[in-house]
Amino acid sequence: MKQVGFVGWRGMVGSVLMQRMREEDDFSLVEPVFFTTSQKGGKGPDIGKDIPPLKDARDVTELKKMDVIVSCQGGDYTNEVIGKLRESGWKGYWIDAASTLRMKDDAVIILDPVNMPVIKQALHEGVKNYIGGNCTVSLMLMAVGGLFEKNMVDWMSAMTYQAASGAGAQNMRELLLQMGETHRVAEDLLSDPASSILDIDREVAEKLRDKEFPVENFGVPLAGSLIPWIDKEVAHGQSREEWKGQAETNKILGHTDKPVPVDGICVRIGSMRCHSQALTIKLKQNIPLDEIEDVIAQSNDWVRVIPNERERTTKELTPVAVTGKLDVHVGRLRKLNMGEEYLSAFTVGDQLLWGAAEPLRRMLRILIQ
Ligand code: HSE
Repeated sequence: MKQVGFVGWRGMVGSVLMQRMREEDDFSLVEPVFFTTSQKGGKGPDIGKDIPPLKDARDVTELKKMDVIVSCQGGDYTNEVIGKLRESGWKGYWIDAASTLRMKDDAVIILDPVNMPVIKQALHEGVKNYIGGNCTVSLMLMAVGGLFEKNMVDWMSAMTYQAASGAGAQNMRELLLQMGETHRVAEDLLSDPASSILDIDREVAEKLRDKEFPVENFGVPLAGSLIPWIDKEVAHGQSREEWKGQAETNKILGHTDKPVPVDGICVRIGSMRCHSQALTIKLKQNIPLDEIEDVIAQSNDWVRVIPNERERTTKELTPVAVTGKLDVHVGRLRKLNMGEEYLSAFTVGDQLLWGAAEPLRRMLRILIQ
């Protein structure tokens, strides 16, 4: 059995990974060793079998004993450790949720329902670094990757509606605090049916702009608002999250030599853990809508096409409908006024599952089978 080291298993993505691995009985197939950056010698998670005490995540001698290391510890840790590990001669597989190594030539972005041939080729060539993709990109490809696979896409614009979880656990807490504060200030007026909605609105707006409003993590209010910028600026007014759209999509698909243009605006909204995206897809040719729906529906086992009808859409194409599920929903499929080659789509997926933890555990499965 392969010795598999886990680092960063206590954080949000790590906890979802542990939960999914327990659900799928993955731990029965490996000899797990849990590492820690702060509690060496402590007790690891409950995974239904005995495990050794926690080892030091910075101890290269211990890390080197692993056949595979799965890290959800974050980019700083990857930066600190991976160089030393490889220099020490370690030839094991590094599976990582952080973006640090994603665009390196000796790394593959993993999303096996979409790019299994790319992963297999990399394994054959001896590539050792397998990195989870940006959540927005992974969820977009889980939804409409079939169109890319069939070479139907000329270009794509993605306008995103990204959940608080993408910014981190503290941000999810802050969103709820903000919602609570916003409600609290309007509570008395709300309970009076004769009160004016404009009075309520004024109280709420004042609260949202109050210097004491809790914005330590987001920097600005998200409740009752939105934030049309995610991550740092790369260049020319494009955010890093927006830059990843084209860079990672084409790397996942193995198309970096002839990249399909992908761009748009990434926006943070007040949903908890589901990212949504409004896509405009310029097709290479006029393909009938029913054919497009078939290609999408058959591209993997998790994509669900929601008929473009009001009732079904408002019930099934929402973060509330999808949260906590592996299914990725795609709907609002129709040809746009711009012409028969212009397709709209709206996708919703759980950012912590296919957007983060799921590709990692599946890569581990690929390595141990
Ligand atoms: N960068 C993403 C976000 C999450 O901020 O929503 C991780 O891919």
